[in-house]
Amino acid sequence: MGHRFAEIAFTAAVQAAQEARGSRAGYARMTEGDARNDRLGEKEIDFIHARDGFYLASVSETGWPYVQFRGGPPGFLRVIDDRTIAWADFRGNRQYISVGNLGGDDRVSLILMDYANLRRIKLFGRAEMLEVGEDKGLAEQLAVAGYRAEVERAVRVRVAGFDWNCPQHITPRFTLDEVEQAVTPLRQRVAELEAQLASCEGNLA
Ligand SMILES: Cc1cc2nc3c(=O)[nH]c(=O)nc-3n(C[C@H](O)[C@H](O)[C@H](O)COP(=O)(O)O)c2cc1C
Repeated sequence: MGHRFAEIAFTAAVQAAQEARGSRAGYARMTEGDARNDRLGEKEIDFIHARDGFYLASVSETGWPYVQFRGGPPGFLRVIDDRTIAWADFRGNRQYISVGNLGGDDRVSLILMDYANLRRIKLFGRAEMLEVGEDKGLAEQLAVAGYRAEVERAVRVRVAGFDWNCPQHITPRFTLDEVEQAVTPLRQRVAELEAQLASCEGNLA
C-alpha cells in the first residue's frame, strides 16, 4: 500500500537510480502507509474538468511508448467517479495508433497541463474503449454540445494512481479565452480614455 502512483513508477530500476543518486531514502517513505493517490478528490476533479487537452501515452506491442495529444473544449475530459475518467475520442487521421496499442495493452499514462497556473497532474490507469453504440448512456454523458467533431468511441480509464507535479520549468501560456478575459477590461479602459481625450480636444477647439 502507500502512494499508488509511486508504487507503479518506482520499479526496481528506478529505485536503483534513486539509490545511486541519493534520493532513495526520501522517496522510500512514499510507498509506506495507507493507500492514497488513487481516488480523485475535489481538487483533482476541478482540475480535470477545466482541461482542454492532455497527452496520452500508450504502449505498443513492440514495447515502444507512444504519446499523442487529445483535445476538446474544457469539460470534454470527464470524471465519472473518483476512480474513473472518460472522454469522447474524436475522428482524426485514422492511423489508430493509440486504439491499436490499447487493444493489446490497456495501460496508459496521462499528463494534464495547466500552463496558465503552472500546474500539472500525471496519472496511470487502465483504459477501456467503447465504440459508439456499445454504451449509449456513456456516449450521451460524454457528448460535447456544439463541438464540431465526429465521436468514434468513448475511452474510459480506471485510475491506478496520480501525482501532482511541481511548477518548475513550466512556461506560462494562455489560451485565447484567457487572453480575451485579461484584455477586455483594458480595451474598455482605452475606449473610456479615448472618449475623454476626444471630449477634451473638442473643448479646446
Ligand atoms: C485530417 C487530419 C489529419 C491529421 N494528420 C495528422 C498527422 O499527420 N500526424 C499526427 O500526428 N496527427 C494528425 N492528426 C491528428 C490525429 O489524427 C489525432 O491527434 C488523433 O487523435 C491521432 O490518434 P492516434 O495517434 O492515437 O492514432 C490529423 C487529424 C486530422 C483530422
